[in-house]
Amino acid sequence: METSGTQLRGKTAVVTGSSRGFGAEIARTFAREGANVVISYHRDQEGEDELAAEVAREVGAEVVVPFDVRERDSVRALMTRAAERHGSIDVLVNNAGVNVVGDFDQITEEQWDTVIDTNLKGVFLCCQEALPHLPDGGRVINIGSVSGQYGGPRTPSYAAAKAGVMALTHCLARFLGPRGITVNCVSPGTIGSEMLDSTMPPELKEKILPNVLLGRLGTVREVAETVLFLASPGAGYVTAQTIGVNGGLWV
Ligand SMILES: NC(=O)c1ccc[n+]([C@@H]2O[C@H](COP(=O)([O-])OP(=O)(O)OC[C@H]3O[C@@H](n4cnc5c(N)ncnc54)[C@H](OP(=O)(O)O)[C@@H]3O)[C@@H](O)[C@H]2O)c1
Repeated sequence: METSGTQLRGKTAVVTGSSRGFGAEIARTFAREGANVVISYHRDQEGEDELAAEVAREVGAEVVVPFDVRERDSVRALMTRAAERHGSIDVLVNNAGVNVVGDFDQITEEQWDTVIDTNLKGVFLCCQEALPHLPDGGRVINIGSVSGQYGGPRTPSYAAAKAGVMALTHCLARFLGPRGITVNCVSPGTIGSEMLDSTMPPELKEKILPNVLLGRLGTVREVAETVLFLASPGAGYVTAQTIGVNGGLWV
């Protein structure tokens, strides 16, 4: 049986891309620790509204917002609604992301723009629009990727965007340090997920696993628990860090 805790009691968290995957698990983990969670997602998939509503019911979320991280007005509407309902945004998790696989000489400009706009510009817009609602001592947690640390195979736009997320994490940590707001990046490796299945062929997974010290794929739960640590009171002196959740992937 799941035990519940109080690490985030009374805190409000906006988790972008929380209709499924990592974001939904982060939302569940935060709710278990007492947070008010705002569910947000894009609406790319058939039945997405139902999926988001289901996650919202599970976590007791009162605010569910379809939005687009690439559009400033849309991001502003999300942050304003969250703050109006709950008073502030204590924790912002920039999780929404997409991946497009293709060799460097094949990838189109349009694909490049989609990935950079969603994964990098989206983080910039969400941080800027959440800023007026972040109290001193707040938390920003960005979801990066091991791709951004070693130039993931066949994902040039994704790797570039995620490397940018790590750099932006450091810049924002500098800017917000004087207010006691911590800014960190969680960088997952090969995690069993829909995104991994759709972007990495089984033979590549088999090739990578021998380089993972723990010899297995990670789980969304393990990513969510690391994000929880960074949001928790215990991580008050951790900022400007990129924390790998990669089983000791040797890159
Ligand atoms: N899965 C992995 O193995 C892995 C490894 C390393 C890093 N990551 C990173 O972890 C994060 C989550 O990955 P995941 O596997 O959970 O992805 P996922 O299952 O594909 O879910 C992505 C989420 O982001 C939302 N989203 C996509 N585009 C958006 C947009 N323009 N505006 C707002 N929301 C948008 C999606 O909403 P819709 O459902 O409505 O589209 C969905 O809720 C991503 O940043 C990813 O790059 C994943």
